[in-house]
Amino acid sequence: MKVLVVGSGGREHALVWKLSQSRLVSKIFTAPGNPGTAIHGENVPIKADDIHGLRDFALKEGVDLTVVGPELPLTLGITDLFEKAGLMVFGPSKKASVIEGSKVFCKELMERYGIPTAGFRVFEEPDEAYTYIRTVGGAMVVKADGLAGGKGAIVCRSEDEAMGAVRLIMEEKAFGEAGRRVVIEEFLDGEEASFIAFTDGRTVVPLASSQDHKPVYDGDRGPNTGGMGAYSPAPVVTDTLRDEILHRIMIPAVRAMEGEGRPYRGILYAGIMITKDGPKVLEFNCRFGDPETQPLVVRLRDDLLDVMVRTVEGRLQGTELEWDERASVCVVMASKGYPGDYEKGKVIEGLERADTLPDVVVFHAGTSLRDGKVVTSGGRVLGVTGLGGTIEEAIENTYRAVGMIHWDGAYYRRDIGMKAIRKSAGGN
Ligand code: AMP
Ligand code: GLY
Repeated sequence: MKVLVVGSGGREHALVWKLSQSRLVSKIFTAPGNPGTAIHGENVPIKADDIHGLRDFALKEGVDLTVVGPELPLTLGITDLFEKAGLMVFGPSKKASVIEGSKVFCKELMERYGIPTAGFRVFEEPDEAYTYIRTVGGAMVVKADGLAGGKGAIVCRSEDEAMGAVRLIMEEKAFGEAGRRVVIEEFLDGEEASFIAFTDGRTVVPLASSQDHKPVYDGDRGPNTGGMGAYSPAPVVTDTLRDEILHRIMIPAVRAMEGEGRPYRGILYAGIMITKDGPKVLEFNCRFGDPETQPLVVRLRDDLLDVMVRTVEGRLQGTELEWDERASVCVVMASKGYPGDYEKGKVIEGLERADTLPDVVVFHAGTSLRDGKVVTSGGRVLGVTGLGGTIEEAIENTYRAVGMIHWDGAYYRRDIGMKAIRKSAGGN
């Protein structure tokens, strides 16, 4: 089969790497891709949000399956457009992707169907939001309704911070139209985990558990990023908790979408806060996580293409995924300054040596080629991913590879995976 993967980040390199191992795949295109995806196929210079250009390309090349990485093309309706053209595509429809595209929709859905989540209010007028904030006080979370590139949720420790967040989103319009409405929700205390599953609209097939590290600095300090590292499995998600999340959150969410006339097919990703009152949903995403996909694909034993085709064709019933028993860790190497401003075009040294280490894969994200050399071109540059018999070994292998890679201004967290160690040791 000819496959087209849409996107250019670490998640897409990880998907392409895994798909390239499928017996069913004859050729992989990535649009627009990065130097990492080019190792396994051909990069095509079409942007991920140019959904018409992508459709024309898929028709011209006779692409058999298109796999959509990021949320933007999904919310723009790439799936509907491809299906209308008779093309097979992995990812939810426009109507279904709204679960990520609108936080207001997502929260109201959860409320209607009794899916556990933080208490919330929706505001269209800043003055009403300010009055509400003054009334409730304390810590709360202010979220722009629409897509904001992972920056639209602002965790506020005080009334003043919350007022500032509303001002930024609604009055200064930091995220444009996405901030026309805000959700203000109760602050939840606990540990986060990512729960990602395939669903064909009826059957839900969970992937292994994983955990992201969103804040930029060690010890979960500093502003949130797209994710500075991840590991799998996440010991905080015990078997009991996994079943609870599956039966109280994931399956009800898929049924709820069906009930709303928005049948859901593809990946459903729940960001979960494990609170003392049980798991609660922070958000739903309509796609694979980045960087969670990197540690997940290196552990997945099944043929990814086969699972994707079964998802699209509604044949997931009876599917159970098999996982490498080992643990995996992905450390994101970023440009100094990210998630704020940073410099680009720095030559990256040591990539090949790191990539030849056993049980290590270096996934590219914000890289490009200049005069035959790999240079930095984004905030999150690489996702160095390693396996180990224990989480400690996985951490050691991964950081050994990270230590071999250099560029002027490389930054990474030094504590990726440490929470898992504390958890396995019975602490927290
Ligand atoms: P979201 O985009 O809604 O997942 O929010 C991004 C991040 O903000 C989450 O991964 C959490 O770290 C944090 N967050 C979101 N909602 C809450 C909440 N209600 N309580 C505490 N932290 C939250
Ligand atoms: N790692 C967080 C996300 O993919 O949204």
